[in-house]
Amino acid sequence: MTTNPSPEAPTSRHIPILVEPILEFLIEPFRNWQGEGPVWFVDATLGGGGHTRQILDALQKISPEGRCKVLAVDQDQTAVDRARKRFEPEIQAGRLELMQARFGEIAEWVRNHSVVALLADLGFSSDQMDDRSRGLSFQSEGPLDMRLDPNQGQSCLDLLESISEEELEKILREFGEERFSRRIASAIIHRRNDFDLPKTPKDLSRLVVHAIPSFARHGRIHAATRSFQALRMAVNEEVSQLDRLLSRVIIEVVPSGRIGILTFHSVEDRLVKIRFKDGDDFKALTKKPLQASDEEVSRNPRSRSAKLRVAERLP
Ligand SMILES: C[S@@+](CC[C@H](N)C(=O)[O-])C[C@H]1O[C@@H](n2cnc3c(N)ncnc32)[C@H](O)[C@@H]1O
Repeated sequence: MTTNPSPEAPTSRHIPILVEPILEFLIEPFRNWQGEGPVWFVDATLGGGGHTRQILDALQKISPEGRCKVLAVDQDQTAVDRARKRFEPEIQAGRLELMQARFGEIAEWVRNHSVVALLADLGFSSDQMDDRSRGLSFQSEGPLDMRLDPNQGQSCLDLLESISEEELEKILREFGEERFSRRIASAIIHRRNDFDLPKTPKDLSRLVVHAIPSFARHGRIHAATRSFQALRMAVNEEVSQLDRLLSRVIIEVVPSGRIGILTFHSVEDRLVKIRFKDGDDFKALTKKPLQASDEEVSRNPRSRSAKLRVAERLP
């Protein structure tokens, strides 16, 4: 099933996270970078363009002659189209290129350009959450889709139509860290057997809430949050995409180049930590992940669970 994203919003509501350390680790070291030709900074997760904006502004200061350029990538065509308008002057000036692609597809581009820094800020943007046609919010009465690129893979509803109960339980447990994964998986499959799968996120969130014991329904977060996170990660193959980024893409940055990865989930943070620690191609520059200050969390609650790890490519 393919859905068309809603018309674009004029501006982004997404607030970029941990901007200061990102600029300090990924931009500052290249202030006096020697070498021929243009150098590239890749923002692999353009989203609302918050980090791209900050990177462009910082590069303008250290390289006013325009030698430092940015490639900003997103799997979501709507995000790319919106950025094309927002960043028109930078695109015209040859300081920014945009690309609609998934992580697995950018390795060759990175290999063929002198990329000195790469940022990935995983997950979804506030704009995608607000877009009812995506079905990411449990209030939504739009389609039960959840794809960040509506042209890739299967929707959440298609996944629920075909998945086994065991596999669904595993997804809810591993990606959602949902303690009631078994009850929720069983309730969903029960409904499927009655030919009555939920058709909207709102229906699904009601089903999830009813599947868990009443004492656990009223916590700090909405009772369906973990299940929605798990299903979104499965629908968008987020772990295998990260695996591709870590195994195929980051290896293509130049020696002494830097990688910064912002994760929001323990499974993803663990993968990044292991990749930066093991082997002889990267040196971790952050022993422990950097996290948002209390002040940032109060300004932007989404930053609460963010973890930033940075590594340097060894020669
Ligand atoms: C958290 S948002 C990025 C927000 C952005 N840093 C900002 O400041 O506005 C994550 C974005 O990355 C994109 N994304 C996630 N996984 C991706 C993948 N495997 N390939 C390409 N884009 C991806 C999503 O579509 C989303 O727009």
